Amino acid sequence: MQIEKKPLIVAFCCNWCSYAGADLAGTNRLNYPANVKIIRVPCSCRVNPLFILKAFQRGADGVIICGCHPGDCHYTTGNYYARRRITLLFSMLSYLGIEKNRVRLEWVSAAEGAKFAATMQSFAEEIAELGECKRLEDLRCKK
Ligand code: FES
Repeated sequence: MQIEKKPLIVAFCCNWCSYAGADLAGTNRLNYPANVKIIRVPCSCRVNPLFILKAFQRGADGVIICGCHPGDCHYTTGNYYARRRITLLFSMLSYLGIEKNRVRLEWVSAAEGAKFAATMQSFAEEIAELGECKRLEDLRCKK
């Protein structure tokens, strides 16, 4: 019997909006895939692009960064920095041979629990279609 491996998805969520949105999704009993592992960060700009590459190295199949909507960042301009960094990372990803679709940047506010759940659902489906990401995988991180 072969057990189908679910893709591992890492979601970096900013503390002030997206994490609260995830919380709201939970409070409203909205389902989102259990293979989405949330990492709470103070702001989306805290996500260094190297964190994303490290996640792929440690076995993630997809990485999503969620932050406050533009203009709503708790630190005023943090999400603008995040947006620029991720745009630069996209060009680097194709250079590394990783599909661009494996990384997504989304704006989710604290009041958008339903959007959070829907976004995670659609991202998980997209990553499941792409399959396992082995390009950067470090075999020493295998369980
Ligand atoms: Fe949410 Fe900056 S605090 S993106």
